[in-house]
Amino acid sequence: MNSSPNRRTPTGSGVNYRNAEVERILETLHADVAILGAGGAGLRAAIALAQESPALRIALVSKVYPMRSHTCAAEGGAAGVIKGDDSLEHHFNDTVGGGDWLCDQDAVDYLVREAPRELIQLEHWGCPWSREPDGSVAVRPFGGMKKQRTWFAADKSGFHILHTLFQTSLQFPSIERYDEYYATDLIVDDGRCRGFTAIEMRSGQMKCFLARAVIIASGGAGRMFPFTTNGAIKTGDGMALAYRAGVPLKDMEFVQYHPTGLPNTGTLLTEACRGEGGVLLNRHGRRFLQDYGMGPETPLGKAVLKTMELGPRDRVSQAFWHDQRKGNMVGTQWGDCMLLDMRHLGEKKIDERLPLVRDMAISYLGVDPVTDPVPVRPVVHYMMGGIDTDIRAATPLPGLFAAGECACVSINGANRLGSNSLTELLVFGRRAALSALEFLDSSPAAGNAGVLAARAGEAQARLRELFGRSGETETVAGLRRELTTTMEEHAGIYRSGEGLAEACATLADLRRRYRSVTLHDKTNVYNTDLLQALELGCMLDCAEAVTASALARRESRGAHQRLDFTERDDANFLRHSLACYRGDEAPAIDYRDVVITRSPPGVRDYSGEQK
Ligand code: FUM
Repeated sequence: MNSSPNRRTPTGSGVNYRNAEVERILETLHADVAILGAGGAGLRAAIALAQESPALRIALVSKVYPMRSHTCAAEGGAAGVIKGDDSLEHHFNDTVGGGDWLCDQDAVDYLVREAPRELIQLEHWGCPWSREPDGSVAVRPFGGMKKQRTWFAADKSGFHILHTLFQTSLQFPSIERYDEYYATDLIVDDGRCRGFTAIEMRSGQMKCFLARAVIIASGGAGRMFPFTTNGAIKTGDGMALAYRAGVPLKDMEFVQYHPTGLPNTGTLLTEACRGEGGVLLNRHGRRFLQDYGMGPETPLGKAVLKTMELGPRDRVSQAFWHDQRKGNMVGTQWGDCMLLDMRHLGEKKIDERLPLVRDMAISYLGVDPVTDPVPVRPVVHYMMGGIDTDIRAATPLPGLFAAGECACVSINGANRLGSNSLTELLVFGRRAALSALEFLDSSPAAGNAGVLAARAGEAQARLRELFGRSGETETVAGLRRELTTTMEEHAGIYRSGEGLAEACATLADLRRRYRSVTLHDKTNVYNTDLLQALELGCMLDCAEAVTASALARRESRGAHQRLDFTERDDANFLRHSLACYRGDEAPAIDYRDVVITRSPPGVRDYSGEQK
């Protein structure tokens, strides 16, 4: 590869990639596999590729420096069966039931089987998992899980996992990093993904990455909503690129609210607060979850699995919504909150297990959890849906693979259990790499030079058109505000057909007006005006997929709750939604059956009763 700011000793697979026609149009960078996104899933994929096939050329392309990827913000931990009387069967059942039976069960089987190996592998690469006094790896309880199986590194698990993967990736000279490149378009020729175009942010130049296989690992799209735990980078870029290239977005209506965000910033206060024994109170001091099917009340200071504060996220967030409507929440300057009370845990335990939580509550809210309950409220946290992939992390577009939050494989179904996502990005990041390798072995054909050049030229022309606009009135900030308020109002914890139809109409209008957005900054170097405009386009596409899929799903399941269709409807909707791109028109919604191997749909029971 040429022109990489992080160029290391080059290696070669011996394949000749030169494509003079494309190079005449754009500077072209060649790889065997190009990975879009350098967070947990992208790094894990890159390491697996480099280990399996050292001669490969691997391009790791990201809009941020890897350690700034959102994986870094994960706090609570990663699930994997390791000890006690836990079993793969328990992990499978918790995940499938937690997902309200919308998970593909073959994929869940793969996840739970591979999870322990991946977490032990991280240990060997240096991840500082927290320990029990006897030196064994510690696990903590998490919501919706019948057994303690969440591995953690205090409450900075994501940081340590990402750091471990990043450091490990540095061992491999075949991984060439392209930090701060923003991908704009996938390049498809002859029904195969052949690479993508991307803007090098420091120069503003568009480049063409040609690759024999592409893996998207670019994270979620929580920034469609105004109040979210997601960092500013989570704008659904990879999802939108795949979608526009003809890959459906699957199960996009399932948007997870995490019950406990700081009310002013949306910053996550990890579920581990409750795993360690914290409780949720309404303004009457009542542990109100017992009033919403998650009871009876459990002893203070002793977290009881799979009930009360350790119920699943969808149910806890929905309980907040109901109790709020009864006027039982605490009014604050940031809106209604519940109280997360950890005082009974004591300073020693809080400092050992939840130091970041204490630090953030004090820094952002001025509340010390050692002495006071912390006001919190549900906050958009995670997209269960994403790029349609199969159990091999392959999309329907040959040569294109996806893993991590941007993908929907689907192991999360209608509601992800906390701590399954860090595990998912490891397991399916590696799986995407192995599948890409198989693909390389079976399909050596090079793309048609003329077609690839035309595609690269079109991407460049779109960028020039955006730069060339003048005199238009629409602004990125203005449209983004309308987008996020629409999503919050109509696609939140509870939805209605009427509200969703209104959201669909508003989004169609926003997409039309988006074509008139004008850049105020016409310079090249780190043009954030340009990047935010492109990100907004991605969020609008993803948001339309969310609302159109939600409108079409006339049932309530997991995180998708309809006020006008309050029951789960397995007869009609035990199916994945597939939002298919149609350019200027709203997406078409198609369906695919869920893979059920051995767990037929049942009742989700978090009442705490022993069965
Ligand atoms: O609460 C948390 O620590 C979040 C974990 C997750 O989303 O998996």
